[in-house]
Formats: sequence, structure tokens, C-alpha cells
Amino acid sequence: MDGLLNKIHLADCMDIMREMPDNYIDLAIVDPPYGIGGGSNVSNKSSREWDKKPIEKYFYELDRISKNQIIWGGNYFTEMIKFNSNHSIIWDKQNGNSFMSDAEIALTTIKKNTTKFFKLFWMSNMMGKEEKPIIHPTQKPVALYRWLLQNYAKPGDLIFDSHSGSGSLAIACVEEGFNYIACEIDPDYHKASVERLHKKYKELEQGLGFIKYKKRSEKDKREMDKLFGD
Ligand SMILES: C[S@@+](CC[C@H](N)C(=O)[O-])C[C@H]1O[C@@H](n2cnc3c(N)ncnc32)[C@H](O)[C@@H]1O
Repeated sequence: MDGLLNKIHLADCMDIMREMPDNYIDLAIVDPPYGIGGGSNVSNKSSREWDKKPIEKYFYELDRISKNQIIWGGNYFTEMIKFNSNHSIIWDKQNGNSFMSDAEIALTTIKKNTTKFFKLFWMSNMMGKEEKPIIHPTQKPVALYRWLLQNYAKPGDLIFDSHSGSGSLAIACVEEGFNYIACEIDPDYHKASVERLHKKYKELEQGLGFIKYKKRSEKDKREMDKLFGD
């Protein structure tokens, strides 16, 4: 199983989860397609290609492999989610009169405040360089994921992202020093996200930003350098 660690896998998450023993993951922070279309227009893919709601078996597997879960878009999956909790996290995007939705809701097994708000401005075409490049129509901010890790994960937790998209959670895990396993099924988003991660590592290796980040192995560095140049 160690071969799975600290990588964004080009894979169907169902295949990766099937390999995992019960309760292998400490905290799954997942963002499956909601099946409602939309998102910002940052790639030439239509949402029909990636926006397929997961089937019920996905939620059984997620429940089996993880001790705790945070499920973005949980309000779209209430009939399939396997835990019974009214605890939610609301990300208020503070995006005023934009045509995008004003907030997103996650349901969680972790019982903190019944409802916890996180306010962070997000309009994908107006973000500063710390969130760029924007490579995915439903990319979530690294800052949102860093806040989740700081508030909902314990040091040493293994984090799982079944639908990695732009790789924002993988980057947050590296910056916050967590081991993670991530999957993305679409080859174009997978490649763009690994390149984004590679660029982030380059910054960190030059001493820019986080001092206590999770270092990559020499083997991973060599492979990424070969793929994307350095
Ligand atoms: C809502 S987006 C995730 C966005 C991500 N949270 C981010 O910050 O960029 C869902 C992603 O899941 C991917 N996906 C869909 N079905 C999948 C599957 N069975 N296994 C892995 N990835 C899948 C899609 O290609 C899409 O990129």
C-alpha cells in the first residue's frame, strides 16, 4: 500500500479504494461531481465529460475505507451518504452578484460546531498567484483545504481525495505536512494537476513559502523533472 502514498493517481477511485483495507484512511476529504453541470469555463471539456454523479457503491466504499469523511456537495448526495450526521461546513465564496453559486456545503462525520462557516473570496478568473494556475472548472482553493486540514485533521492523519481535479488538496497536504492519496480519472486534468504540484514543489524546494512541508522522494523528483523539465 505504501506505493499509493503522496501521489495523484491517474485512476478510477473505485479501483484504488478496492485495494484499501477497512479504515485505512484517517480522513477522506472528497469532492465528487455533483452532476449539475456548470463550473467556470477554464478548459475546452464540456461538463458532460467529467460531471457524472457517483453511484451508491462509491459511498459504501468510502465509508468502509475511511474513519472520517468530509464530503463536498453532500447536499446533492443525501440519499446515498452512509453516515448520519447533521454536521456541515459551509464555504461562503463572498462572490457578490456573480452568476456562480454563493456557497458550497460539505457534510462531515466530524462533530464540531453543527454548522461551521469558512469565508474566502473565490472567483476563478480573479484569484491571486497563490491559487494560480486555474486548471479545472470546479477548482477549489488551496487555502480552503489548508483550513480544513488545520481544523479537522490530526497530525499524522492519512488524507484521501477520491476526485482530485486540479490537485488543490494534494498541494494543501504537502504544504501542511500530511501524507495523502489522490485519484483523478481524466488524463488531461491529471497531467495538469501533477504539473501544478511539480511547480509547487519547485517553489518549496527553493525555500519559498512553507518551511515544514512534506518533501517528495528523490525518485518522484526525478520522474517529475523528466516529465515537465525543471
Ligand atoms: C468536482 S471535480 C473535483 C475538483 C477538485 N476538488 C479541485 O479542487 O480541483 C471532480 C473530478 O472528479 C473526476 N472524476 C470523476 N469520476 C471519477 C472517478 N470515478 N475516479 C476519479 N476521478 C473521477 C472528474 O474528472 C473531475 O475532475
